[in-house]
Amino acid sequence: MANASWVFTPTVPHFNKPMISPLISTFRSRVYPHDRILKRVLCSSAVHGADKVSVSELKASRVVGKGCKLVGCGSAVPKLEVSNDDLSKIVDTSDEWISVRTGIRNRRVITGKDKMTGLAVEAAQKALEMAEVDADDVDLLLLCTSTPDDLFGSAPQIQAALGCKGNPLAFDITAACSGFVLGLVSASCYIRGGGFKNVLVVGADALSRYVDWTDRGTCILFGDAAGAVLVQACESEDDGVFGFDLHSDGEGYRHLHTGIKANEEFGTNGSVVDFPPKRSSYSSIQMNGKEVFRFACRVVPQSIEIALENAGLTRSSIDWLLLHQANQRILDAVATRLEIPADRVISNLANYGNTSAASIPLALDEAVRSGKVKPGQTIATSGFGAGLTWGSAIIRWN
Ligand code: COA
Repeated sequence: MANASWVFTPTVPHFNKPMISPLISTFRSRVYPHDRILKRVLCSSAVHGADKVSVSELKASRVVGKGCKLVGCGSAVPKLEVSNDDLSKIVDTSDEWISVRTGIRNRRVITGKDKMTGLAVEAAQKALEMAEVDADDVDLLLLCTSTPDDLFGSAPQIQAALGCKGNPLAFDITAACSGFVLGLVSASCYIRGGGFKNVLVVGADALSRYVDWTDRGTCILFGDAAGAVLVQACESEDDGVFGFDLHSDGEGYRHLHTGIKANEEFGTNGSVVDFPPKRSSYSSIQMNGKEVFRFACRVVPQSIEIALENAGLTRSSIDWLLLHQANQRILDAVATRLEIPADRVISNLANYGNTSAASIPLALDEAVRSGKVKPGQTIATSGFGAGLTWGSAIIRWN
């Protein structure tokens, strides 16, 4: 487990006390105003219980700025491409129905011995390469996934595969299609809280493993992929996470879920009669498409407006709208509500379908590498989905 100790060197006189609580409470919804935040945080990290790393081998104290910026991205998709026509051979559907209702034409699906973690590692390596950051310098790895290869969490396997010698903390964040935005905001909070300089945020999912391939209402939507972003501590003038807004509503769980299958048999008085329990498994994806559609069109514009307000910005500051890639009609409806022209909306779902936590970093990576998104541009990003959960962040690329 990583532990962080830190020494604050405040430069704002009125901010000598108390330092931690205002920061934590503010991070619930917005980035702390620059003029009231600590100028620099001097910190050092230590790992306890990891025999192979001695304290002297750990990184020496380092200065962490009060800002954080996105400095690298990467993505990976499986080789197998499945078109709408391919799907029409296994369920009663057509390319026309799927493309008109969703905008999706193809998706990638994991096969054979390939794993979600393999894609995640490839995406993470590309992000590190672009950021010119060595794997040894990663302080924290957040794997946003709802389909881990291991129920106990897959982030440490990615940390090991990348060869991060400092044994940085690595753990999973489970929030389905909102996962990446939650991971990004979490990375900014860790960095601003002190003790973390390079945070790798990976969004990766293989929902194809949980799709009922005989259900035409859901199997047409999803695909597998991974995307990653390296978030780095920096000085305030380079800050690239301006504001955010996060929510969940457990009441809406029934509209989209992949729950554990009940394995108990109850007696007439409600007592459990089947002990020991059978080994558990999960149901395939259960979804009320119409409700999820309405939910997304309602909450996403509101959330982006709140994130903009928290960032002290207006809609006119947005260069790109980068939403979770669920359905082109959702992207269009949100853009219309926010009065953002269609050519400012990033969309690649025609090629990949809904890749859950991977969809935002995958689309970002393609847009950055193609030169569409340029350094210094402002992006309004929003994730939404099962939980129900949703959240937005106003960020600057690099
Ligand atoms: N091919 C052909 N017909 C299909 C079909 C398919 N793949 N899936 C459903 N249909 C049929 C239905 O059976 C229904 O037929 P009926 O009128 O004879 O009963 C008809 O098409 C309309 O179905 P409906 O579910 O009302 O369609 P819809 O317009 O709501 O579109 C979704 C369905 C799933 C495309 C749409 O609701 C959606 O995208 N919702 C959001 C889902 C989402 O994004 N989930 C993930 C969020 S992270």
